[in-house]
Amino acid sequence: MINIFKLGYVEFNAKNLEEMKNYYSEIVGFTESDQDENGSVYFTSSTDHHNIVLSPSNQTGIKKVGFQYESDLSINEVADYLKRFDIKTTIQFDAKPGVPELIQFEDPEGYQIELYQSMSMTKKPGYKSKGIVPNKIGHLSLRVKDAKKQVAFYEKIGFVNTDWIEDYFGFMTCNRDHHVLNFFTSEKKGMHHIAFEMRNYAHLVDTLDFLRLNGKHLEWGPSRHGAGHNIACYHYDPEGNLIELFTDADVFIKELGIFDPRPWHQDFPQKPKVWSTDECLSLWGVDFEKALV
Ligand SMILES: [Fe+2]
Repeated sequence: MINIFKLGYVEFNAKNLEEMKNYYSEIVGFTESDQDENGSVYFTSSTDHHNIVLSPSNQTGIKKVGFQYESDLSINEVADYLKRFDIKTTIQFDAKPGVPELIQFEDPEGYQIELYQSMSMTKKPGYKSKGIVPNKIGHLSLRVKDAKKQVAFYEKIGFVNTDWIEDYFGFMTCNRDHHVLNFFTSEKKGMHHIAFEMRNYAHLVDTLDFLRLNGKHLEWGPSRHGAGHNIACYHYDPEGNLIELFTDADVFIKELGIFDPRPWHQDFPQKPKVWSTDECLSLWGVDFEKALV
């Protein structure tokens, strides 16, 4: 068995590396921790060696996703364990700074996934005094051809399905967060958004002023979603990757099959369920005026 417990890093292709570096360093407030021989730049928001990677490319968009796991098994035994689910893996040693060994595979929708057990600690703390300075990467939203199949695949490797919006948008977690991943059926491909967790609503509001002063306008929000109950708002990074900033998301108590009770929950207790689209997008009645899907 392996226990995947954390969304560790997300790697993006970057066409204009300088502009992207400036955004993730000066606007988001992540700390640059390393560069490699391919010109990739590493950023940390924590004690980890990295949580965001920007790789020079003639393309934009998501490139890889890394999840951290814990296990008593050796890396070869983990690869063997994944084989039983027909997952074709490659083991790599010292393939990137800070990660001595990892297991790479492609998920059914073609997303490049890396699993790693340990990552070295960054020399410089991820916490800066300037910029947004999120707590962490909270979750990743990916477009897929078939959300039902994708959810079934991630359940095999230990993720838990929390909520659904109808039958096209599935939420999954590997820890206490309401969702670490979500998948929605779409004719388009690629990442829908990456979400950074704010400390609280005051931090989020300060951040929105900061974004405006730095020429960034919001695409939607803030408002409180239904599934997850996160207060969220969205803007784009310089290369069109949609960024969600959120706070106050549901905490999943897996052992009880409920979310930690909150005064704004309409259900008591709030359990994983299927939401209708209209009730889910905004509990505060803010319309999705721009097509974010
Ligand atoms: Fe989100």
